[in-house]
Amino acid sequence: MGNVFTRIGEKISDYPLFAAEWEERAQEILPAGPFGFLQSGAGDELTLGQNREAFSEYDILPRVLRDVSNVDTSIKLFGQEQSMPVMLAPVGFQGIFHSQMEIGSVKAAAAAGIPFVASTVTSASLEEIAMAAPEAVKWFQLYWSKNRDLTASMAKRAEKAGYKAIVVTVDTGLLGWRKRDYRNGYSPLKLLKGAANYINDPVFQELVPELTEEHVREAILENIHHPNLTWDDLLFLREQTRLPIVVKGILHPTDAKQAIELGMDAIVVSNHGGRQLDSAIASLRALPAIVKTVNGAVPVLMDGGVRSGADVFKAIALGADSVLIGRPYVYGLAAGGQAGVSRVIEDLRTELQLTYALSGVSCTKNIDAAYLIKR
Ligand code: FNR
Repeated sequence: MGNVFTRIGEKISDYPLFAAEWEERAQEILPAGPFGFLQSGAGDELTLGQNREAFSEYDILPRVLRDVSNVDTSIKLFGQEQSMPVMLAPVGFQGIFHSQMEIGSVKAAAAAGIPFVASTVTSASLEEIAMAAPEAVKWFQLYWSKNRDLTASMAKRAEKAGYKAIVVTVDTGLLGWRKRDYRNGYSPLKLLKGAANYINDPVFQELVPELTEEHVREAILENIHHPNLTWDDLLFLREQTRLPIVVKGILHPTDAKQAIELGMDAIVVSNHGGRQLDSAIASLRALPAIVKTVNGAVPVLMDGGVRSGADVFKAIALGADSVLIGRPYVYGLAAGGQAGVSRVIEDLRTELQLTYALSGVSCTKNIDAAYLIKR
């Protein structure tokens, strides 16, 4: 806890202070195309807004006069320790935001002792990311290719490179209606900014014997969205890897139940940061019913709109085992590379530790719904 108190009076105003200010800084630096791609949501951005709004529907009901001189925010997932219940969400194409790409982000995650989830569409390959931060806990997010062998190959490469879980994202059967990107005529996919994992894949190389820009682009666009993927397909992945499989993009309790029945190892309650189905329920609002259905069978994670220590606390109180943050750390990357990501993480940590202490809890497992009151 030293960290929290030694910062009293520290001049930190030269840096952005989490969330909104990092977003402004990133906007100053990035061209309209990449910034719009990062910030915007689908449709009228109703879900994007509701992801934030949902957090203000709860207030914390703190307890006092408890010994909070030692606050321990750590948790364990799949036997791996993390220093707080926060992870870096899979965000593709980081090369469009900073020349350090995902390497800056994974090193910041390693330094902070929190897991990094690498996207399928990273700008550095999954092997390069792993080698840059061997000490980091890393998970690999899989976009299921239409070609099953390619799907299996990526999962196997991730396992070999030391990733500790496969996160299958299931809310992107088709790309959402991203109006800002259409207005800007912008897609990092078309620019091949997320092609590294494909170009380096032996199955992909067989599929696309001539790795010209045009052929690669065409093959990726052909493979990345898979509208006829169904539950049964997940069983195929189960046979390909021994790693835990995490299903990301669940909002309905019945889908959560189905995932567990198929032997999946965790769930991420997520609407893809409001970038896919607009008007989909806010993640935080979907969380309680899913927690109730899952009933402790597997870990339940959530993402969407987490911006502060209080937000993390509220998600944990509603039953999440951990949250993921997406845009905030990428704003940090855009504005300051690895150092920017570290700053975002450490400010969030400070705020989270203080939220624990001032709410009267000293460790994560003691946080429950009794610390919240709905407005
Ligand atoms: C994403 N997200 C995402 N998810 C995923 O499974 N694979 C991916 O490649 C990406 N790529 C991606 C790019 C960008 C620019 C953003 C903003 C998001 C979704 C991400 O993992 C996460 O679900 C949301 O970002 C969480 O919401 P917040 O924290 O951004 O509000």
